Amino acid sequence: MDYLTAKALLKKCGQTQLLQYYDELDDEKRRALLDDIERADFSVIENIYRKEQSAVGKLSPVRAVSLKEIAKYRTEYERVGEKLLKEGKVAAVLLAGGQGTRLGFNKPKGMFNIGETRFLSIFEQQMENIKKVTGKVGACFHLFIMTSDKNDADTQKFFRENNYFGYSSDKIHFYIQNTEIVCGFDGKVLLDEKHRLSTSPNGNGGWYSSLVSSACKDVLNGGIEWLNVYGVDNVLQRICDPAFIGAAVKSGCGCAAKVVSKASADEKVGVLCEQDGKPCIVEYYEMPENLKNLRDYDGELTFRYGVTLNYLFNVKTLNKTKSEKLPYHLAKKAVPHIENGERFFPKEPNGYKFETLVIDMVRLTGSCLAYEVEREKEFAPVKNAFGVDSVETARALLKKNGVKI
Ligand code: UTP
Repeated sequence: MDYLTAKALLKKCGQTQLLQYYDELDDEKRRALLDDIERADFSVIENIYRKEQSAVGKLSPVRAVSLKEIAKYRTEYERVGEKLLKEGKVAAVLLAGGQGTRLGFNKPKGMFNIGETRFLSIFEQQMENIKKVTGKVGACFHLFIMTSDKNDADTQKFFRENNYFGYSSDKIHFYIQNTEIVCGFDGKVLLDEKHRLSTSPNGNGGWYSSLVSSACKDVLNGGIEWLNVYGVDNVLQRICDPAFIGAAVKSGCGCAAKVVSKASADEKVGVLCEQDGKPCIVEYYEMPENLKNLRDYDGELTFRYGVTLNYLFNVKTLNKTKSEKLPYHLAKKAVPHIENGERFFPKEPNGYKFETLVIDMVRLTGSCLAYEVEREKEFAPVKNAFGVDSVETARALLKKNGVKI
């Protein structure tokens, strides 16, 4: 894109401030700035003027395959799951593109030391969990790792230096998630440098569109039918669990979610519900108070199943929904940027990041199997440095599960 075309485009979008330092730049930097402008999707800005879609409307609870039912059918579920794993029809996708701001660790979250008497990174612990499955099944599955432009180099280096934690390196594939522009509360896109637009990872809902547009697509197209998507922050995460795969296949659903019974009505987890006959996940802050506290005759919460960021997606179903747009969610963040010619580091949020979320993909698939797991055995999130869902609580749960940390 040349200067005049960029200027006309920015005028149309009300973003001419992006060219304010153009005259000061050398040729290379001018090129970089014009390329950034050409790549940017300015239409996302409209989302700040749109009322946030909230999950009101008619919600109903879902039924899950309970722990009791799973115990009864486990052998059959495992048989089906193990067969698919041996045939290479299931792969895993680790969502590791987040910035982990709540933990306050300035490296990729997976590099965080969850050990006490030895160094044990979150990545290593999750790879140990994977190796338990592959050891039992006798076959390695492909693992796609989604990073962001901000943490890709550190993540790849860490895996390399740790010899891929003893996993086959040819089965591990990194790809970088896409980004979106970042704007101030006034809707003006911010400059990260005088010649670079401010951007940030586009949320964990971008995992599939980024995967199919990456070099990893050839591996994906080599016969993979199910993708087990999981978050980096649960150290008890069971990945490619054969029984879960078997139950998902047998259910005929487009996706499946590992859920836990909520510890309390106020627990900060997304809740798997149904809305107009379709599955949907309602974030804890969007759940209407009356529904949040509703109880069944047996005293259990009516809307009781919290999601653990462990989903199985059927690839054919995903491909059918590829053209559907996911809604953008706005995250208020403190965004360093250029102001009056200097780099400025705000302490308070000053702008919006635009993110799509994996939880919104569940609705698009049309049907979701809720699969209950024991929280003490499979759910140890590391979101915060202290308190609830923190390093301390995750360490305690690892020890409870016999992991030497
Ligand atoms: P979170 O919602 O906890 O976000 O991510 P975060 O950025 O890691 O942490 P905070 O909110 O700043 O503290 C849940 C999962 O989604 C991944 C994260 O790496 C984590 O596994 N994620 C999140 C991405 O892969 N990309 C994103 O853009 C955002």
